[in-house]
Amino acid sequence: MDRSDRPRVVLGVSGGIAAYKACELLRRLTESGHDVRVVPTGSALRFVGEPTWAALSGNPVTTRVWEDVHEVPHVRIGQEADLVVVAPATADTLARAAHGLADDLLTNTLLTARCPVVFAPAMHTEMWEHPATAENVATLRRRGAVVIEPAVGRLTGKDTGKGRLPDPGEIFEVCRRLLARGSASGRDLAGRYVVVSAGGTREPLDPVRFLGNRSSGRQGYALARTAVARGARVTLVAANTSLADPAGADVVPVGTAVQLREAVLKAAEDADAVVMAAAVADFRPALYAQGKIKKREGREPEPVALVRNPDVLAELSAARTRPGQVVVGFAAETDDVLANGRAKLARKGCDLLVVNEVGEDRTFGAEENEAVLLGSDGSETPVPHGPKEDLADTVWDKVVHMLNAG
Ligand code: CTP
Repeated sequence: MDRSDRPRVVLGVSGGIAAYKACELLRRLTESGHDVRVVPTGSALRFVGEPTWAALSGNPVTTRVWEDVHEVPHVRIGQEADLVVVAPATADTLARAAHGLADDLLTNTLLTARCPVVFAPAMHTEMWEHPATAENVATLRRRGAVVIEPAVGRLTGKDTGKGRLPDPGEIFEVCRRLLARGSASGRDLAGRYVVVSAGGTREPLDPVRFLGNRSSGRQGYALARTAVARGARVTLVAANTSLADPAGADVVPVGTAVQLREAVLKAAEDADAVVMAAAVADFRPALYAQGKIKKREGREPEPVALVRNPDVLAELSAARTRPGQVVVGFAAETDDVLANGRAKLARKGCDLLVVNEVGEDRTFGAEENEAVLLGSDGSETPVPHGPKEDLADTVWDKVVHMLNAG
């Protein structure tokens, strides 16, 4: 592809220790065919030097408005960008951006950009939680920027808490989705809070065994990732998954159906929408053996007695903790897919049911998916075979429509 045909991305880097992780984000962007211009702040260059950014991007690197003045880079770089991503964004950069300062090339670029802008903050927990930073973040979000919530974990030094830069691969996914969806209309979940459940519950029999299912959690993670890219605040209740945390989502790990119910109902209290993509076990063993169940020579095994688990989706649909809340369910069916889906939609009382056909080698763990969305208004929307992100976006399209109508 000619350089002029490639999507133009500006990678702004500000001066934090996480600047080294932006090298990985840069690599992902260039390897997937983007033309990337790196604009570090002066202090970012104290962490990672100019030759690294120039070599990895294949483009010149400028930080000050006084360099290459004949090309007017302080205006042109922002004007020509299809996406600006600032990673890491320090408290200082967020403050300068929120106040419209233009004291270096990065802030000039932010003022001239008319494309989607993503900030991936990284800082110490206290700085993130300070009211000044919180207000700057709220200002940037109100103006349409996507500010990705920092991840929780080990920070520089010995402390842990909220403030880590999310996984660069996951920041890349947010950028990719934003570029695919285009400008302001792409951020139609801004100001909304959504809850997504993902994965499959495990119901323990004894300390080493459980009844489980084959759900990988990929569809739920795609829903969380796409919701972040559309500007939502996201809680992801994840049951037994082994996927990287989607950038910006608040991830709550759970094990059993009962734990999942508790986490989802709590988060749902002030949610605009809840999407139940998790495969929740309908039954659990009636008894939990404190010690490992042993085989006994010459004796048949004891049958496993089961009891019903709570139906979280039906409970959410009946309770509607918040007026106008949209509740979405998933149905995995092997036969009579549409008829069973319609019956399930009515039984569960949700607004939308995503019905997909499953089998040994279909859907579970796969990268792609195909489904029909059944609406409580009688609508039927087929989604052709494609990436789970595409199905996720179609679900959010419907949710946005229902939220705006309600
Ligand atoms: N679900 C739930 N709580 C359960 C079981 C399922 O919230 N105890 C939710 C799932 O997250 C999914 C939807 O209900 O969104 C459909 O789940 P499914 O297992 O297909 O439906 P069932 O009610 O179990 O129906 P059946 O066993 O008859 O297929």
